[in-house]
Amino acid sequence: MVKVAVLGAGGGIGQPLSLLTKLDSRVTELSLYDIRGAPGVAADLSHVNTQAKVTGYQPASPKDESQLQKALTGCDIVIIPAGVPRKPGMTRADLFKINAGIIKGLVTGVAKFSPNAILLVISNPVNSTVPIAAETLKQYGVFNPEKLFGITTLDLVRAETFLAQLLKINPAEVKGKISVVGGHSGDTIVPLVQSTPLGKQVARALSSDQYSKYINRVQFGGDEVVNAKQGAGSATLSMAYAGYRFAELVISALTGTPSYDSSKIPEPAFVYLPGLVGGKAIAQQAGVDFFAVPVVFGAGASVKTVINPLEGLTGSEKKLVEVALKGLKPSIKKGEDFVKGAA
Ligand code: NAI
Repeated sequence: MVKVAVLGAGGGIGQPLSLLTKLDSRVTELSLYDIRGAPGVAADLSHVNTQAKVTGYQPASPKDESQLQKALTGCDIVIIPAGVPRKPGMTRADLFKINAGIIKGLVTGVAKFSPNAILLVISNPVNSTVPIAAETLKQYGVFNPEKLFGITTLDLVRAETFLAQLLKINPAEVKGKISVVGGHSGDTIVPLVQSTPLGKQVARALSSDQYSKYINRVQFGGDEVVNAKQGAGSATLSMAYAGYRFAELVISALTGTPSYDSSKIPEPAFVYLPGLVGGKAIAQQAGVDFFAVPVVFGAGASVKTVINPLEGLTGSEKKLVEVALKGLKPSIKKGEDFVKGAA
């Protein structure tokens, strides 16, 4: 029995993400919430012949919390893709003004109505919205670092796809062999390839110029989609795939039916390090509390341990980390201050 809620289910990411979740045979209830459109999406998805019972909720007014309460009660997993996406020329940080308040409001609902749920935050800027979520949960005394994840999987998906193109191999051959850590925005994104099992193959196949271009493409790949959509938004379908890829790991850990064993191929998420086994040392080494690192799930889909991605890096990977940390620190602080200042 797994109940999943998608908050922002009427949107570009929310709709396909809800579809993918509806297709998961282990999900028994799927609860869709949005300030507009969720009941329609729910009615549509409810005709798909899988067991998950789908319900849609839309508040009658901005002050109406009853629908959020209904959507969240009894949830095991809450996925949040609510908020505005980028338009050409915007960075993810430009979204802070609007999305910070949206995340704070929705996570307040999670704190009140499903405090034990595993929370997956997709809304940008992830580097700030996850600290906002953490601080909000702290204010309600229900913050469990083992259950809060910023979704950075799309960076890994892009890194796998683009590398496979360069190596002229099937992306499936790259899956699980490389990693992307750090944050989720421009040069805070740190693709790790050289120090992985594929490192030698990459060194043989790619010139240093090609390698630099590849790193840049992973870091700024989102812009390709934003520009191609010409103002109609950012990545939605690839993001829905990526969001479900991570959610699927959580569902597997939760139900004890690992189709993909996270202890064998840990995938990264943006987490609060000091509260996690193995995390304190990374936080001290990096000088930040939040960082995307590979996570291994334990029973109940809480984080069992995190893996230090900063060991054994090449010189150029170390430089990428240094740059990432510079960008991450103020973004994390901005998120934390947003909640602390509003308290
Ligand atoms: P969208 O505009 O198509 O959908 C957002 C949905 O959120 C809309 O249906 C809207 O009604 C809903 N919403 C707004 N305020 C809400 C509230 N208070 N409660 C419930 N629902 C609310 O946007 P899209 O393309 O789905 O993107 C959503 C977010 O995901 C953006 O912030 C975007 O930047 C982010 N994103 C994150 C990625 C990642 O890798 N983590 C990748 C791509 C996008």
